[in-house]
Amino acid sequence: MSKVLLLLPGDGIGPEVTAESRRVVEALNARHGLDVVMEEALFGGAAIDATGDPIEEATVARAQAVDAVLMGAVGGPKWANQPFDKRPEAGLLELRSAMQVFANLRPAMCFPALADASTLKREHVEGLNILFVRELTGGVYFGEPRGIEDLGGGERRGVNTQVYTTTEIRRVARVAFDLAKGRTGKVCSAEKSNVMESGLLWKQEVQKLRDEEYPHVDLSHMLADNTAMQLVKWPKQFDIILTDNLFGDILSDAAAMLTGSLGMLPSAAIGEAGKPGLYEPIHGSAPDIAGHGLANPCASILSLAMGLRYSLGRADLADKVEAAVSKALDDGVRTRDLGGNATTREMGDAVLERLG
Ligand code: NAD
Ligand code: IPM
Ligand code: MN
Repeated sequence: MSKVLLLLPGDGIGPEVTAESRRVVEALNARHGLDVVMEEALFGGAAIDATGDPIEEATVARAQAVDAVLMGAVGGPKWANQPFDKRPEAGLLELRSAMQVFANLRPAMCFPALADASTLKREHVEGLNILFVRELTGGVYFGEPRGIEDLGGGERRGVNTQVYTTTEIRRVARVAFDLAKGRTGKVCSAEKSNVMESGLLWKQEVQKLRDEEYPHVDLSHMLADNTAMQLVKWPKQFDIILTDNLFGDILSDAAAMLTGSLGMLPSAAIGEAGKPGLYEPIHGSAPDIAGHGLANPCASILSLAMGLRYSLGRADLADKVEAAVSKALDDGVRTRDLGGNATTREMGDAVLERLG
């Protein structure tokens, strides 16, 4: 039976990069025995313009029912003055929460051809292969109370709450430990257990689960600020980095530059086995380059590859897509963020040609 992939192109460069992933799916359907039906819906600012809401209820329901969702990016200056809960980004948080995709896998891999595209020296990044496991449906992004209060006399107070339960910590740590089996076995958990109670609980629960069920995992703990420094100093010391929602957001953007460009980093958000996954580049809508065909579509295409692997049962085709991206880079095809002059479409063409 056909599998269903829901495309949510979103805003800015989102539609530009998602169009290239759509062409990859079409090519895999036509030539490589994939059987995926694509649907599309409005999301983010595009949905606000059409309906007033960043995501319609029907779209949330569809995302919960299909096999996988591929998102582009949301947000931009046009919607920056929307009430907070009606911003494009709020739609994305609602979607992640509704899909219960609590574990966000963000691989930061340096493709061989890009070892000189990083701002760090070649020996620091060549062969780099870090996997962030970021908690995605809890923490300060969702904690209550939250809001902006008027205290009178012109004084206001902005409130967000960092909160984690043992269940939330253990289920994402389990994902990291399971993935460690197929890698070097090393997991570094990053938190601020020195100043935050939620960070201390995080550290304690992660260690407890390791001791109870994963004795072979080589677990270490690192304060998140030090982790940021160590990532830039000697990134190859890391294999899996397990961390919360906010630290994971920040540390994975930093790691993106180790691989050459933010436009290269894909992600997979997964939940309980058998439930649909949410696949998205880690970059945003890039308003500074949107509409000019300059965006790098590789993060979107590699996110699609993660979808093929984790939700669509076609790890073989995921390997093929990743190899085609790597080959295109080997052959010198580069968008502007990587120092080249290929357009989004030309980069997509180069990947399609190398799919075979
Ligand atoms: P951004 O990731 O959109 O852009 C940061 C920089 O990286 C920009 O210079 C941009 O041109 C460049 N860049 C990003 N992706 C690129 C690509 N594929 N190819 C080439 N260059 C690329 O971050 P920002 O500017 O801080 O945020 C812009 C908007 O995007 C905001 O509204 C933000 O909330 C939103 N955002 C959305 C997501 C998402 O939808 N998942 C992620 C991050 C930011
Ligand atoms: C990301 C983005 C999102 C986040 C925003 C747009 C909600 O920065 O996916 O990295 O902070 O999680
Ligand atoms: Mn981010």
